[in-house]
Amino acid sequence: MSDETGSEAADRSDGTAPPDPADSVEGSDQSDPAEASDPTGEGETTAGDRFTAADRVARVPPSGIRAFFEVAEAHDDVVSLGVGEPDFSAPWPARSAAVASLERGRTSYTANRGTAELRRAIAGRVERYGHAYDPDEEVLVTTGASEAVDLAFRAFVDPGDTVALPTPTYVSYEPGVTFAGGDPLAVPTYHEDDWALTPEALAEAGADEAEMLVLCYPNNPTGATMSADELDAVAAFCVDNDLLVVSDEIYAALTYDGDHESVATRPGMRERTVVINGFSKAYAMTGLRLGYALAPPGAIEAMTTVHQYGMLSAPTTAQHAAVAAIERCDDEVARMRREYDRRRRYLTARLRELGLAVAEPSGAFYAFPRVTDVAPDGDDEAFATDLLDEVGVAAVPGSAFGSGGAGHLRLSYATGMGELKEATRRLERYLDGR
Ligand SMILES: Cc1ncc(COP(=O)(O)O)c(C=O)c1O
Repeated sequence: MSDETGSEAADRSDGTAPPDPADSVEGSDQSDPAEASDPTGEGETTAGDRFTAADRVARVPPSGIRAFFEVAEAHDDVVSLGVGEPDFSAPWPARSAAVASLERGRTSYTANRGTAELRRAIAGRVERYGHAYDPDEEVLVTTGASEAVDLAFRAFVDPGDTVALPTPTYVSYEPGVTFAGGDPLAVPTYHEDDWALTPEALAEAGADEAEMLVLCYPNNPTGATMSADELDAVAAFCVDNDLLVVSDEIYAALTYDGDHESVATRPGMRERTVVINGFSKAYAMTGLRLGYALAPPGAIEAMTTVHQYGMLSAPTTAQHAAVAAIERCDDEVARMRREYDRRRRYLTARLRELGLAVAEPSGAFYAFPRVTDVAPDGDDEAFATDLLDEVGVAAVPGSAFGSGGAGHLRLSYATGMGELKEATRRLERYLDGR
């Protein structure tokens, strides 16, 4: 399952891979970590727990997604539209580069900022979005986009700083801000406006007083992208109010209507923006854990200071795979994007047929339908639980993505067409029976 749930993905194959070496590994450590601390198997642990979570950790509730999937895993015959990761394996050139890297014994650390070869490849790749970043000074390779997000908060948020977070949005930002000692500020966006973020909404929420704004476009969970005009307007707001921006563009390559545009290309924005991207989504490389940050030299320097003590360097094998991904996998990425697009059209059409309003997702691989029209109490968690219990469809309650997601469900179409068809058939049965 997704990095959001921390669960493991099921084995998958696209027919291009050699036999799974894990099948022939004997004597590998299969021990259950739970057993190690509970040798009697009777729920007793060997040592008392003397830890109290630090205040900023205790303040963060467990992930709503994780809680939901723990329940889902206990059910049989579940069709899951819950996963936030591709159902494809990484393209073969990337996998074979990883294998070759290991075969050559390239198992050491790399430079803190990542290999020069990969940083050059990244700088070349992002030119397609109008970016020009110096690979030596303005690119930092990280352990997933997740690490880059965390570094941006830890490097630039002081205790008491306000960080504006449009809601609904990706689940990691609010805890990340809190762990860094900052104060998250929710900026509501609305289904009726196709989840658009406007300067008016920012001002109304008080973001003009904030120190930082986090943008996530294409958006998880809504699939919304920002139009050129919206980007202009939000960029002007950030310049006028002197906000730093963290722009998580991990779904940039999965944009269906038009080309992705980055806020950092707007006047006055490059110097105040950390652009984040990675290999998990477009290249289906979630398990290889590789992302990157692009920012002016001083910002990359500060983030590298945190990264070099906390992480040393991103995984070496994955860095070699990533170079191959950039250089040799464009066709595969295009093929996956076409397939997501096909599923997107199918899913949104079916949802509307079933009477669920859904803003057209124009990027990422999620649809975010409103359930309040069919569930008058409007409780998305109760709806998701009932849907799972009654017809075995797992979808993430919208409120897991912040208050702005209430009354909605996140459905991932990074799921095979057969499963999408079965899930919508079951959803129809469920809605008919209500
Ligand atoms: C918006 C967004 N940012 C970052 C991540 C994490 O990416 P990575 O696997 O590169 O850490 C995710 C994963 O779901 C995401 O949806």
